[in-house]
Amino acid sequence: MSKYKSLKGMPDILPADIPRWHEMEKRIRRFLSIYGYTEIRTPILEETELFARSIGSSTDIVEKEMFTLPEVSGKPVSLRPEGTASVLRSYLEHHLGHGQDLLKVYYLGPMFRHERPQKGRLRQFHQMGIEAIGSDHPFVDVEVMVLLMNLLEFFQTPDLHLEINSVGDEECRPAYRKILKDFLKAHAQELCENCQRRTDSNPMRVFDCKVPSCQSVLEQAPIILDHLNARCADHLASVEEGLRTAGVSFTKNPRIVRGLDYYERTAFEVTSGNLGAQNAVAAGGRYDGLAEVMGGSHTPAIGFAMGLERLLLTLGDSLIPSLQKRVEFVPLDDKAQIQTMALSMQTRQACVRSDTSPTIEFLPEPKSIKAALRRANRNQAVAAILLGSEEMKKNTATVKWLNGKDQKEIRFEDLPSYLSKELA
Ligand code: HAM
Repeated sequence: MSKYKSLKGMPDILPADIPRWHEMEKRIRRFLSIYGYTEIRTPILEETELFARSIGSSTDIVEKEMFTLPEVSGKPVSLRPEGTASVLRSYLEHHLGHGQDLLKVYYLGPMFRHERPQKGRLRQFHQMGIEAIGSDHPFVDVEVMVLLMNLLEFFQTPDLHLEINSVGDEECRPAYRKILKDFLKAHAQELCENCQRRTDSNPMRVFDCKVPSCQSVLEQAPIILDHLNARCADHLASVEEGLRTAGVSFTKNPRIVRGLDYYERTAFEVTSGNLGAQNAVAAGGRYDGLAEVMGGSHTPAIGFAMGLERLLLTLGDSLIPSLQKRVEFVPLDDKAQIQTMALSMQTRQACVRSDTSPTIEFLPEPKSIKAALRRANRNQAVAAILLGSEEMKKNTATVKWLNGKDQKEIRFEDLPSYLSKELA
């Protein structure tokens, strides 16, 4: 027992859990390559200002959830709380849009937010996200949402709900924000302290408040869908039509506002009924104005990110990793040990996964072949390869298949090809 423990909300992912992570990541990568997305890897540490300007200085993430170091190369830096800002920064920095109408990239990796940990909410968590950069066509929105729903269906994720909204644009949102602010001010007495504070700093965020008394006030609040300009309303109508044509079911929820300020027009969220309070599996939206905020030229874009711990939680035991078959070499005495090592190496060169038991002499009680076979079984080997003095004399190994009674003598030189054929 060490006197050190991992930090709160930053758990280890232990060897026993890794096969499920690998399986999930493998399926995600395969799926995304079918959809024409390529991977991008951005650093975990970026200038704090990149996140503050992109996500918004009055959002929860920037106000209180970033892990910030005071200075690296003369600038404050933060652990990335999300991936979109970094991807767009990289897109602009490396001119990734050059000669390309639409750049389609994805990322997989850890994100950091100083939140109060609970089921499905961590301080170090993992996201996979996609960004489609370079088009403001509503059908790109549709394609991104169809991809997300198909990906979740590919995993057979249970009880899914897609909710969409439009959060307007720089032309119509300020007017709506004022109408909402006036309404909230008129009901200030009935709102919690947090909502009262948000009324001035970021009024649309009050819709995320879970306090029941606030909820009943907000039911009467004006909704943005009644205040969209023609451009945003048309965009939303085309997105809805596209989703219906693609056969994706969704509900329109005017209360989806998202906790990041860069969104414009389309915003969406996918929840799963079996997640409890933190029920958002994935969320995203359009961020057509963000490139200009970063000093670049106008670059419309849309994407989403999915919480991988939450995906695993919803899948439970239904995600079964495909295990690579393996064999276990069991040297029966010291003399056989060196031959075992050589055979194990040759077998690995034939792409058969193998491990070697300690010589039976060194096994814990009882020192017997039976104990060695039990151990091989426990290690999920499909065959035990036994080598003792008899085998050494004949230059053969005894291959004992563990799922039945079958046993075969195989010459040393034939062993790699025999195993690779049997395990294929
Ligand atoms: P987000 O809604 O902040 O959006 O996060 C996306 C997903 O990450 C959430 O739906 C949830 O599944 C997961 N997640 C967020 N915070 C935590 C946490 N503390 N613990 C566990 N899982 C969490 C974004 O990050 C945007 N960058 C999405 C995007 C991409 N928009 C456009 N492109």
